[in-house]
Amino acid sequence: MVSCIAAAAILVALYIVTYYNFLKGARCRSDTCLRGKTVIVTGGNTGIGKQTALDLARRGARVILACRNKERAEAAVFDIRKKSGNNQVVFMQLDLASLKSVRAFAETFLKSEPQLHILINNAGIGSNGKTADGFNVVWEVNHLGHFLLTRLLLDRLKLCSPSRVVVVTSAMYRYGKIDFSNLNPPGEGLIQVLRNYSCSKLCNVLFVRELANCLEGTNVTCYSVHPGAVNTEVFRQLKCWMKVFFVPVATLFFQTPVDGAQTPIYCAVQEGIEKFSGRYFVDCKVREVLPHARDDAVARKLWEVSERMVGLGS
Ligand SMILES: NC(=O)c1ccc[n+]([C@@H]2O[C@H](COP(=O)([O-])OP(=O)(O)OC[C@H]3O[C@@H](n4cnc5c(N)ncnc54)[C@H](OP(=O)(O)O)[C@@H]3O)[C@@H](O)[C@H]2O)c1
Ligand SMILES: *[C@@H]1O[C@H](CO)[C@@H](O)[C@H](O)[C@H]1NC(C)=O
Ligand SMILES: *[C@@H]1O[C@H](CO)[C@@H](O)[C@H](O)[C@H]1NC(C)=O
Repeated sequence: MVSCIAAAAILVALYIVTYYNFLKGARCRSDTCLRGKTVIVTGGNTGIGKQTALDLARRGARVILACRNKERAEAAVFDIRKKSGNNQVVFMQLDLASLKSVRAFAETFLKSEPQLHILINNAGIGSNGKTADGFNVVWEVNHLGHFLLTRLLLDRLKLCSPSRVVVVTSAMYRYGKIDFSNLNPPGEGLIQVLRNYSCSKLCNVLFVRELANCLEGTNVTCYSVHPGAVNTEVFRQLKCWMKVFFVPVATLFFQTPVDGAQTPIYCAVQEGIEKFSGRYFVDCKVREVLPHARDDAVARKLWEVSERMVGLGS
């Protein structure tokens, strides 16, 4: 009995040591104040996006939660206002699975908000299915919708420089492959979803590289971020039997959304990282990506293909 308790105590201690040393990740230590600055966080109603929005609200920013679901977003607005004591937190409707909605959001935003200093492209999804525009949902939400959104807001970001774009990607980018001849077949099954997810996250990394090139000399900088393995609602569409394995693992070994928000926050507020515009960050540090994610010819082509798909002339 005593040895059982001792063994359990050792296990718990080991877990705590492992958790704080290896799992928790770095903190953003910057004390940048954002009073008078305006920020957009896509998918800011839950998970990493919500914690990012809360932190930026605490720094005094005017925070626009760009979300698809009114009830969920308004609940988050209420919560963030209460926790931050900042009532400059507002909801604006944005469904990234619809190019029409992206255009409507940009139009409303540009009309009603005079400034934009930080755009955080955080919303993301890993599921199958087609959008009303006829694209693969993962492709449109994770890449194409955000591509259009960023392009439509770019002039305002330039006007308000120094300003930043932060794109929440994933280390899964490493498994991504881009097949320009077949960018959005309707996906079926988990493997295809993961493949499409990785591809969309590779697109995030490449988009940021090309965006940095376009933005040279403007004082608008951009960064892609892997937030870590984070216990959020991102796994909500897992089947019941998968959850049985997944939930305990995620609870014990994944970061909390507060931890997961640290690197997106860092890239949004840390002074002195401008020279790393276009690069990829993990754990509040710049990190080299694999060769296929720094292929500038592919990044350029992706940019042009995306422009055509959303109907933008260059
Ligand atoms: N969690 C991880 O381990 C992990 C790891 C690497 C990268 N990431 C990335 O981190 C980002 C945030 O993910 P999370 O883990 O915080 O996931 P989450 O809890 O599922 O939050 C995702 C957010 O995206 C929103 N969203 C989904 N589809 C949308 C659409 N069509 N239009 C507008 N918003 C939409 C969701 O809105 P609803 O609430 O209305 O659904 C939600 O606010 C994603 O880009 C994800 O790929 C996460
Ligand atoms: C989706 O998955 C299919 C099958 O794996 C692949 O051919 C296609 O290129 C992927 N599309 C995207 C946008 O990732
Ligand atoms: C960028 O910032 C620098 C330093 O503040 C300033 O001198 C320069 O004029 C700015 N450039 C533009 C295009 O705003």
